[in-house]
Amino acid sequence: MRNIYFLIILLFILILQKYPIINAQREALARLWSVQDDEIDDLIDREVELIDADHIVKRHLNDDVYSGSYIRTTDNNIIFYITDATPVNAIRNLPDVKPINHLLTFERSVNTFNLHDLKDRYRNLTRLAFQYSPELVAIFIDVTLNNIVIASYHGYYPTNREFIDAVNRQFVNPAPVFEYGNLPNTNEQHYLNDISRRTVRMRMLDGDGLCDLHQNVTCSIGFLARRNETHENVIVTSGRCDLFEQEYFFKPWGSLDVHNLIGRMDRVSKYHMIDFGIVSIEGNVEPTITIRNTDSPIYPEINIIGRNGMENNHLGIHSCKSGYFTHLTCGYLRSNEAIYFDALDPYRISYVINIENHIWDIGGPVFHYSDINNVYLSGILTGGIGNIGLATDIDKILIRGGLSLEL
Ligand SMILES: *[C@@H]1O[C@H](CO)[C@@H](O)[C@H](O)[C@H]1NC(C)=O
Ligand SMILES: *[C@@H]1O[C@H](CO)[C@@H](O)[C@H](O)[C@H]1NC(C)=O
Ligand SMILES: *[C@@H]1O[C@H](CO)[C@@H](O)[C@H](O)[C@H]1NC(C)=O
Repeated sequence: MRNIYFLIILLFILILQKYPIINAQREALARLWSVQDDEIDDLIDREVELIDADHIVKRHLNDDVYSGSYIRTTDNNIIFYITDATPVNAIRNLPDVKPINHLLTFERSVNTFNLHDLKDRYRNLTRLAFQYSPELVAIFIDVTLNNIVIASYHGYYPTNREFIDAVNRQFVNPAPVFEYGNLPNTNEQHYLNDISRRTVRMRMLDGDGLCDLHQNVTCSIGFLARRNETHENVIVTSGRCDLFEQEYFFKPWGSLDVHNLIGRMDRVSKYHMIDFGIVSIEGNVEPTITIRNTDSPIYPEINIIGRNGMENNHLGIHSCKSGYFTHLTCGYLRSNEAIYFDALDPYRISYVINIENHIWDIGGPVFHYSDINNVYLSGILTGGIGNIGLATDIDKILIRGGLSLEL
């Protein structure tokens, strides 16, 4: 009898101990979706099904008869934005759409633009932007707003006034949507809980920091790649961190000092409007193919298992990044094409993501999860305006850089 009581008490203690572990929200993706960590894998599977459904329906639509779609994973739903020309009933009755009907919602788009009109408007607006060369401005299509968004910083208003005035003169009924961020404060020193320093060969994770000796610029490590011609291993980051002929040092999360040389940066980006930089590995550092997620007690290092193979036109799906300042955060894919004008050059952006970010995160890896511990790489963070993150596509980096992803 005593043994049974003992067992019951033991069982009770075990359940009590297990409960807070199961019922936790420590992963950035769980916070994004407002679920517990142990629900992440199911939701990722659900998102994959929604991506397939999005793909099936889009095969029957062209840009003239609808205004885009947006996946809402937590609602298990895809919203198709429709116009008068959208044959909703005919689509719902198609043999391959019938089984997925419960996943689809059709909603009238806010303005009268179909996707073709939106792309036309986007092209005209970017043409105008190239004439004026505004600073720290991103332009992209937002299908839920059924309009073009011009994102910039309040603090750049005088600089960009002529451009904004020209936009307001030429694009009316409706005007494009202007979104403003506050200028980033680079002197903040958040998240700096010290990490023990070792004199051994330093393991570098994707998302860790890198900087020049004086720390005039801090960026984040993107990923490990190999040069096709020489088979040399290199680190990919943003070319916007380039200070010309400077040596770059390793700056792990939580550290304010720099000791370990990585190497020199070779900036390839500018010519094709594709932002990336390549850093040689010369110092006593050990690059890895894992992403830093030290804030998570269970998955502190996330594995890269490949690069994103799907088309990036499934809006609304999750997308995450890891970086020196805001660490691993997740958001929603908002647009799959943008032009970003920084202070010097314009860049082509393949992922516009609603995500917390900071200029010190620039260069860090952008990815989506295959399961809670494994991800596919989609690119690197190139810049951000407020909580809008802008990323360069991995394939464009590999092709332009003559690189292969090292796995
Ligand atoms: C874009 O520009 C072309 C040529 O200037 C014009 O015909 C067209 O109406 C414009 N489209 C939009 C949506 O502004
Ligand atoms: C970096 O900062 C140091 C010290 O603040 C300064 O002397 C140097 O000129 C700066 N270098 C660059 C490239 O901005
Ligand atoms: C680099 O090598 C990889 C694999 O060996 C290949 O798939 C890729 O096309 C090559 N890229 C370039 C730019 O040569």
